[in-house]
Amino acid sequence: MFSPKIYESWKDIQRQKYESILNILGKDFLKGLFSGKRVLDLGIGFGYFEGFLEENKIKARIIGLDRDQEAAQKCKVPLIIGNANRLPFKNEAFDILLSIDSFHSIKSGDFSRVVKKKGFALITMFFNDYTYEKTRQDLEDKLVGFEIVCAFEIRGKESEYVVLARKR
Ligand SMILES: C[S@@+](CC[C@H](N)C(=O)[O-])C[C@H]1O[C@@H](n2cnc3c(N)ncnc32)[C@H](O)[C@@H]1O
Repeated sequence: MFSPKIYESWKDIQRQKYESILNILGKDFLKGLFSGKRVLDLGIGFGYFEGFLEENKIKARIIGLDRDQEAAQKCKVPLIIGNANRLPFKNEAFDILLSIDSFHSIKSGDFSRVVKKKGFALITMFFNDYTYEKTRQDLEDKLVGFEIVCAFEIRGKESEYVVLARKR
């Protein structure tokens, strides 16, 4: 269950994950991936990732979606309050789908509908030593219609499985 108070104290941990993603994928690659693109961030929270992109001068046209009211108040990025499993967007409305630490409560199907063909999904899910295999499998199973471009783990204060995938 998402708790805004705990989440706020988690900001630095989230930031370390973003830095690892940037270091592993490369800043130039991320710039090329996001610049000028229409991006949907499912479960955007308070928009920490978007703040990180801004600091790194990576500019995209991002819309967030979150079911939490407090996120809407704190997030500086345009945000729609809603359920990530019933998206109020047209088919293929986005170039990139982002989901950082929210994919565990997202079902397959609707997110894929709103991503353009040849568009990308950048997804992370946290895991521990007992849930690693299941997390990896769940994430990959949900990516129906996508091919995985690269996948890697981040071992920080919280471990993450990260997938960059491309819609066929
Ligand atoms: C752990 S936070 C991660 C926030 C942010 N992506 C980040 O990088 O810090 C998970 C977020 O997903 C949202 N969320 C989870 N399931 C959702 C759903 N089905 N629909 C909309 N938002 C959801 C929660 O409200 C919460 O803001």
